[in-house]
Amino acid sequence: MTELVPLSTIEPKKYWHNRRDLWWSMPALQFAGLISFIIYATIVIMFDFKGEHYKVEGTHYVSPFFSPEIEIAGWPSWLSPAVVLIWAPIGFRATCYYARKVYFRAFLRDPPGCAIGEFRTLEKKYKGESGFPWVLNNLHRYFFYAAFILAVIHWYEFVLAMRFEENGKTEWGFGVGTLILGLDALFLSLYVLSCHSFKHLIGGGVDCHDCTRGNKIRYKGWKRIKSLNERHHIYFWISLVMIVVADVYIRLVSRGVIDVTRI
Ligand code: FES
Repeated sequence: MTELVPLSTIEPKKYWHNRRDLWWSMPALQFAGLISFIIYATIVIMFDFKGEHYKVEGTHYVSPFFSPEIEIAGWPSWLSPAVVLIWAPIGFRATCYYARKVYFRAFLRDPPGCAIGEFRTLEKKYKGESGFPWVLNNLHRYFFYAAFILAVIHWYEFVLAMRFEENGKTEWGFGVGTLILGLDALFLSLYVLSCHSFKHLIGGGVDCHDCTRGNKIRYKGWKRIKSLNERHHIYFWISLVMIVVADVYIRLVSRGVIDVTRI
């Protein structure tokens, strides 16, 4: 008769698995996507803010990297004022539940995928979310409020992007830039509203969903957010791509490579 051994006493072999599919392709793709975004964002925010190519003259198009535009008296000219607000989107995305899965697999490779043995880079140091730095992930629910305000600001920028200055007059219209900034605001909002923290805020902490009228309303809201939440990972990536698309478009128009096109 085989002797049963407690699971906790088995020493897992490093990086073992029986998977024969291309399990590594998704983490590799995610690594490439995130690292490209980080490099692009760093270059744009740290080194390319003085030329004013993040906005377009005669329009109210402003790159999402610099939205809302802020001016601070006495701010050093060598540093982008965008760094003052950058903690909000970085904090929100870095502590996002989906993003955690991505960076644990793609960057730390701990674990690299489902049913794959761990490289165990965090061996012995990992204490769940009670030890530094992972304890900071608990701040996600607070970053949510900052991200929510940011999404509202992006809608405000979208409305402003419908204004065009011509011959000293302001006209309302709709351009390609307006459309791109609208899509940026839309996908950022879908990403923020599909957040797990928001789902909990709407319907969490309730023992009985149909005991009171208020709880019934909260339950309906929770079901809506839940269906959005199932596509949270998709909104994460599309909203990231839209920031870059909007920034590239605005820079190309601002540098005169392409014209402002009104639809
Ligand atoms: Fe991803 Fe909140 S869980 S943004």
